[in-house]
Amino acid sequence: MNHIITLAILLFTNLPIISCAQQQSTNDIKVDVGGCEGCEAIYESPIPFDKLEPMVWLPDWTLPGQKLAVNGTVYKADGKTPAEGVIIYIYHTDHTGVYPQKGDEKGWAKRHGYLRGWMKTDKNGFYKFFTLRPGSYPDSKNPAHIHITIKEPGKKEYWIDEFVFDNDPFLTTTERSRLQNRGGSGILTMKPGGSMVKAERNIYLGKNIPGYPK
Ligand SMILES: [Fe+2]
Repeated sequence: MNHIITLAILLFTNLPIISCAQQQSTNDIKVDVGGCEGCEAIYESPIPFDKLEPMVWLPDWTLPGQKLAVNGTVYKADGKTPAEGVIIYIYHTDHTGVYPQKGDEKGWAKRHGYLRGWMKTDKNGFYKFFTLRPGSYPDSKNPAHIHITIKEPGKKEYWIDEFVFDNDPFLTTTERSRLQNRGGSGILTMKPGGSMVKAERNIYLGKNIPGYPK
């Protein structure tokens, strides 16, 4: 969760970054992302942005574990108009709290691991992902979380509050008080859904994002 520390680590490890210039635009309006370590990983999508779907299954989906399905609607800054064409990038640890690697990772996958996925909202602002519930960092009391970066058409990418779990014992009152609610609350309330648990999070573009262009 600590973007500043990880940024410092990356600066000293000189991590190579994949160039994805074809998906970036110099015309994108700057957004004050507030220390967005690794946000450019959104450009490492193996599928071109214009071909992305609103739903994605992460690579761990078929493995044993607590299956998790998260869906929601992305709304424009007015808080009520569904936002189409928003790129969403997520990544998280496995159930042991490690960002797992297979050994051939390039770019930001060396830090984020291979449990990651990309989506693009449809005309209704809809997105959904399927994965296994992550665990807390080893030997820590850090709440388990799923990182998320978003990119709106014509704007720079920025991070919003991680997905966290309302029934996580590490999501204490103190931890909750630290949440910035960037893009709205990321706290997931779990609901049983057959062989999986389900949760919903709506995202509000620009909400609590300093310097967000009007
Ligand atoms: Fe993390």
